[in-house]
Amino acid sequence: MTPRSLWAVTALAVATLGLSSPPSATATVTATATDYQAEDAAVSQGVVESNHSGYTGTGFVNYDNVVGSYVEWTVTAPAGPADVTLRYANGTTAARPLDFTVNGQPGAVGITFPGTGAWTTWQTKTVRLQLAAGTNTIRARATTADGGPNADKLTVTPTTDDTTPPSAPGNLTVSDIKSNAATFHWTAATDTVGVVRYEINRGGNVLKVVDGNTLSATVDTLTANTAYDISVGAFDAAGNASQQSNVVTFTTPGSGDAQPPTAPGNLRSTGVTASSVSLAWDASTDNSGSIAGYDVYQGTAKVASTGSLTATVTGLAANTEYTFTVKARDPDGNASVASNAVTVRTATTGAGGIPAYDKDIAKVDLGWSAAFLPDGSALVTERDRFEVLRVTASGQKTTLGKVPGVVTTTGEGGLLGLALSPNFASDHWVYFYHTASGDNRIVRMKYENGQLGTTSSPVLTGLAKNRYHNGGRIAFGPDGKLYATVGDAKNSGNAQNKNSLNGKILRLNPDGSAPSDNPFYSSGGNARYVWSWGHRNPQGLAWDSRRQLWAAEFGENSQDELNLIQKGGNYGWPACEGTIGDCGGYIAPKRTWSTAQAGPSGVEIVNDWIYIAGVTGKQLWVTKINSAGTGVGTPQALFSGRWGRLRSVTRTPDGGLWLTSTNNDKNGGTPSTIDNVIVRLKFP
Ligand code: GCU
Ligand code: CA
Ligand code: CA
Repeated sequence: MTPRSLWAVTALAVATLGLSSPPSATATVTATATDYQAEDAAVSQGVVESNHSGYTGTGFVNYDNVVGSYVEWTVTAPAGPADVTLRYANGTTAARPLDFTVNGQPGAVGITFPGTGAWTTWQTKTVRLQLAAGTNTIRARATTADGGPNADKLTVTPTTDDTTPPSAPGNLTVSDIKSNAATFHWTAATDTVGVVRYEINRGGNVLKVVDGNTLSATVDTLTANTAYDISVGAFDAAGNASQQSNVVTFTTPGSGDAQPPTAPGNLRSTGVTASSVSLAWDASTDNSGSIAGYDVYQGTAKVASTGSLTATVTGLAANTEYTFTVKARDPDGNASVASNAVTVRTATTGAGGIPAYDKDIAKVDLGWSAAFLPDGSALVTERDRFEVLRVTASGQKTTLGKVPGVVTTTGEGGLLGLALSPNFASDHWVYFYHTASGDNRIVRMKYENGQLGTTSSPVLTGLAKNRYHNGGRIAFGPDGKLYATVGDAKNSGNAQNKNSLNGKILRLNPDGSAPSDNPFYSSGGNARYVWSWGHRNPQGLAWDSRRQLWAAEFGENSQDELNLIQKGGNYGWPACEGTIGDCGGYIAPKRTWSTAQAGPSGVEIVNDWIYIAGVTGKQLWVTKINSAGTGVGTPQALFSGRWGRLRSVTRTPDGGLWLTSTNNDKNGGTPSTIDNVIVRLKFP
């Protein structure tokens, strides 16, 4: 027996004798129960009967079987809570719900009165109602067409809220520690009313619940090789919680399990800053049923250990590639094999977002492309003068010379894209895409000690040329390969012919050979160079933080495209233009514009903000690649009409963008007139 029973008897005796209340620390159920017979109450839509035995008093109320039938008792009570108990019989199998109101106000709604098995079998159900001092009307109203149960009597027991918690359980001990289980003993808590349950806690979390008469428990959901701190708390029926018992600490032994977890899956980057990369992965599973944690590796170095499925690696250098893997550990310390590896480039410091105009850099002929040298100045191609310029960050301009063999198409050809070798510091190669007498071609020239060579070496020749649709952008990808956008040379059939180099994005080794991991390498011939196909006149290339390639292309007369390029992907030209035409089976663009709005040429990506130079639309389009890397936001148009036809947009090493314009470029330019701009934009 716990002291609470004694206190309850004492309190009842005190109340019954009409003596003063016990001290509040011992307050508990204080008042006597009073019966109110249903047959003496007010009845609406019901009759008093006595044909089923077992009732008390002189009968019971048979509710009419309609919604709204009720019995209303008038009871006398002190102010405060009361336990209100209805004695009832329900000889059917369907519950008969009642709503209780007190003095016309909702008290307890939707109380169910399930079948009791027979009309002669009586049971009770208790609700807690707040009563006013003195006379109260308690109405129990049927809410379904079955009416209420047969009602015998209402018993009203005023109560006092129990606000006194049990004492803390004591002398907690642990025994029989196994890899997955342990047994705990404690001594009883005491309570003024009664302990109804004990909770065994790890830290603040409940591991197991036992009833108030139980003073030991075995928890069998423990994890091997794991530290525990366990305590026990007691609760009374009113929900009051004791303080915790003493804490026992122990570590479970290993289980002898030797089977590692499965590898974490789908490791991916969810965010990149200049100094951090956020990663997420899919959970591993283990035969033991639990994973102890995950270890994140940057190369071979462990850089984070976590119990969750995400981690952010910090302290990284800006604009640098890092490769990450994740392994799972089980409780016995077995490590999984590594997840897939992800390679992510950190952002350039302080860059991205909506840029603002900063300053004019220089005036040039038709500045088609710019590429920055290690010294912070840039090489710039002039399409129709066939010249290569060196332009410093402050705008000093030097003509380095002409690329030999370049011709105009009196249209869109000439000296187009350029790119520096990824090993430029040692090999000094500069790559150019230009129109020649019989073809478009990619060549390379040495640029050493401030001098551009006078000869070029062919890298890839035989790209068909035309007055229009010559493509012309080249760029080295994060994989060290040279990518080139090649137009269809006004023969749209080229785009769907894998053996044509036209209407494609090509991928080359720096020496002009075809990489053996190109998608159609095994087909031989020109197909060896094809990275993606079904393009009309692409002129922009850039890679995001996930190393995904994005490319823009000019549409015919309805839609221009921004594409996320997949290896071997077919982008649908000429059957499909943007999202118009016969587009089934082709990869859809991530964004389209009306051809009057964009005419997209150069593309640049800075911290997953994407910048697209609009030629026809005479504006710069800006949007952000979404956090999943699967699409882009709604592009915003900037600098509309300010500099005319925008041909290239290039990230600068000092954290800005250069834009070039190529006005008067449609039918061959006016190479003697130096009237196009290079301007610098700055980031917010
Ligand atoms: C029977 C039963 C009544 C009861 C009624 C009902 O008629 O004898 O006591 O009230 O069913 O379903 O409500
Ligand atoms: Ca009835
Ligand atoms: Ca209590």
